[in-house]
Formats: sequence, structure tokens, C-alpha cells
Amino acid sequence: MNYARRPGIDGEALSRLVARERERFLATHAESARLGVRSAAHWLNGVPMHWMRDWNTPHPLFVREARGVELTDVDGNRYIDFCFGDTGAMFGHSPPPIARALAEAGANGITCMLPAERSARVGEKLAEKFGLPFWQMTQTATDANRNVLRWARAITGRPRTLVFDGCYHGTVEETLVRALPAHDRAGTRARAGLIGMNHDVSATTDAVPFNDIAAVEKVLARGRTAAVIAEPVMTNIGMVLPQEGFMRALREVTRKYSVLLVIDETHTLSSALGGYSTAQKLEPDIWVCGKAIAGGMPCAVFGFTRDVEAGMRRVQADRAGGHSGMGTTLSANALALACLEASLDELMTAANYQAMHDTAAYLSEGLGRLFARQSLAWHVARVGARLEFGFGRPPRDGAESEREAWPELEHAIHLFLLNRGVLLTPFHNMMLCSPMTTTAHADTLLAHLQECLREIGSAA
Ligand SMILES: Cc1ncc(COP(=O)(O)O)c(C=O)c1O
Repeated sequence: MNYARRPGIDGEALSRLVARERERFLATHAESARLGVRSAAHWLNGVPMHWMRDWNTPHPLFVREARGVELTDVDGNRYIDFCFGDTGAMFGHSPPPIARALAEAGANGITCMLPAERSARVGEKLAEKFGLPFWQMTQTATDANRNVLRWARAITGRPRTLVFDGCYHGTVEETLVRALPAHDRAGTRARAGLIGMNHDVSATTDAVPFNDIAAVEKVLARGRTAAVIAEPVMTNIGMVLPQEGFMRALREVTRKYSVLLVIDETHTLSSALGGYSTAQKLEPDIWVCGKAIAGGMPCAVFGFTRDVEAGMRRVQADRAGGHSGMGTTLSANALALACLEASLDELMTAANYQAMHDTAAYLSEGLGRLFARQSLAWHVARVGARLEFGFGRPPRDGAESEREAWPELEHAIHLFLLNRGVLLTPFHNMMLCSPMTTTAHADTLLAHLQECLREIGSAA
């Protein structure tokens, strides 16, 4: 492959590195290769879920076990994990409180279509930890967001959703969009590459740039928007931090036009005990979180205000009956509820957050120093335990972040690190620090990244 030259990086050196690292991967992952061939007979793309091929390794990497910070593959290679299943395992792999909850609750009925005894208690704990009085549970954050947007339309009687360009809120059709350039009056289009999509997003969704409150107000003033759904820090198109006052202005403008503000903290749960919204007093109408909320067990929750609850009751009272169109049979099963309680009690603690944040701050500073030493004008963004580095200055919105992305370089760095026992998330440059991640783990990452940059850096 030919790598274009960019400031600070030697394209030819990068090409050589990728070729060598692919050979090295093949030489050290023979059992994974064998399982890859065998699996291809019965799994699409040789994996149980097609995106497991997003790692850009020559063949799939099969995991034998993962515990705490460490992951071991079927060839016996060990890795320090900074990906943590892209957040599901943010509190470490198989944390003992979750393993205990699984064993205990798993022996006493997994799914009954009835509320488990601990439901009342867990509701109280959610309200206490996240400051919202009412809650619902689903299996995934995608499900939660899908339900939330339906409720928002039903409560407000308006049809449209506003999202930020470059967002990801799961596979909810109306959020799988991009904004067209400002001069294009069509405004919003479906994301490129969607398979089997027949949803007309122009009829349901407006996408505007993050950090642009005037663009938000212009859409809300039309009076057609039920909800704004947003991450408080964009984390799915690199990391885009909110500018000073932006989230507060978003709260004000949504109140001004009686639009529900939905904050999706599936990734920013990393920010603080109680999430970013609690720490920054964002006062969402609806708060969503999945992935790590129950320590990695499939589970998501959404919390809402008394006003939203009153709206839901009104909608329920006014409807003729029949299927609500929201559900999924396994939502709120007893096993997920038990893990959620264990997570609230024993994972989401002040001590765990302190440990995660200390290590993430250490790693962030180390990365900054490393890029300066290599004369690379790259940046590091952090939201609590979650970090990203990007190949340019900090972006203002999704489009800017996308413009500076360089997938080939990301893949090369990821493969180099993987071959040396360090796992980063396969897309962009995301790293998470769990409570068990130490500064020694961070130093290992930094040392190997330095080795990689020395090899490919044109200034080195
Ligand atoms: C902010 C955000 N919301 C929702 C989701 C969807 O989560 P899930 O795939 O668990 O449904 C994601 C997934 O990456 C996410 O980043």
C-alpha cells in the first residue's frame, strides 16, 4: 500500500512498517489463523459479529480469556488492554463483583418477565447516583436511545430529532446521519455505507455541527423538533470537546423551545461518578447509559425527570391500547439487574474513579510529551478515564475531526502496538484506563508508541 506523506511522518517508512508487522502478526498467531479458517465455514466473515473484523489484523484474533487489565489470546500472547471492549469492560474484565452477581443471580432464574425482588432497591440506587427520579432498563444503549426518541415524539407531538454531525448513538436509524455542507439546503443525509437502510432521514432528522449553538437554534425555532440527543463530549468521531458554555447554552435553547434534551453518556460515564451530566450539572430531561453500566453485562438504562414521567403517563392514558412498539423480551432480566446493582454498589465508587482518572491523566501527559519530542503537532483529548489522540489540532466539530483522521496511520500504530502486547480500540485512537490500569501499564504503551513513532517519523 502507498501511504501519502503528511507532516512528521515518512510514508515509505510507514509502508515498510506495516508490511513487516503483518508478517510478525502471522508468525505469532498461528492458532488464531487456524480458528479463523474453521470459523469461516459457519460464521459470516469468520466471526460471530461482522464488526469483529474491524481490527485490521490479517485474520481474526481469538481470545482465550480476559481478566482485569489483561487479555490472553488462543496462541498464549498476552495484552494490556486499553480498548476494554470499546467501553463495556471499562471497570476491568470480569470484575469480581460482577462475576459474583452472575453466579448468584444466574442460579436463581435468569429471565421471568416479572420484576425481580431487587428492582425497587436498584431504582433507588439509580436515582441516588444519577439524580433523576424515574428509570427504565433495556439490553443495549441502542435500544435505550430508540425507546427514548419514540417517547420524546409521543410526549411532544413533534416528529423530528436533532443530532450533532459525526454522532453515534447506536444503530438507531434516525441518528445514522451526516450533515451536508451549510450551502446545501437538503441539510441531512444518511451516513455512507449503511446496509439495507430504507429510512428517509431527511423526514426525521436534522444534523448540525457540534459547538454551533446558532445552528441548533435555527432548527429548533422551526418548532418541529421533539428531542436533541447528544453526547456531552463527542467520542465517536475522534474526541471533540464542548467549548466553554456550549452544553449550558444547549440546555437553555432546548428549554426555550420546549425540546427534550437527551444526554447519551454511554461513553462519558468515564467522566466522573454519576457521569458528565451530574458533574457539570447539565440537567438533561432524559439521561441514557449502556455498555459499562452493569460492568459489561448487556444492560442499559434511561433516567428521566418528573415532567417526562408525567408526559409518558399521559401518552399511555391517551392511547387506544395494542403494542407500544418498544420492548425486547430480555430487557430488565434478573441477571442484568443483579449486575447493575453490583456495578452501582462496587464498581462506580469514588475510589475507582480516582484511580482511573489518575492513570488517564498520567497517560495523557506522557502522550503530550512524546508528541512534542517527536515534533508532531498532534493533540490529546481526555474525558476522565477516556483518552484520544488525534493527528492535528483539537477539532471543533465532527467534520473537522474527520478531516484530520488518518485511518492507515491508525491501523499501522494499532498493529505495531498489538504485536507488542498493547491493545488500542481498532478505530481512531481511543484508550480507556480501568481502575486496575497502572502507570506501569501506561509506561509500556508510551514506550512502544515512541518506538513506533521513531521508526516512521520523518523528523526523528
Ligand atoms: C454514545 C453511544 N451511544 C450508544 C451506543 C450504542 O451502544 P450499543 O452498541 O451497546 O447499543 C454507542 C456505541 O458505541 C455509543 O458510543
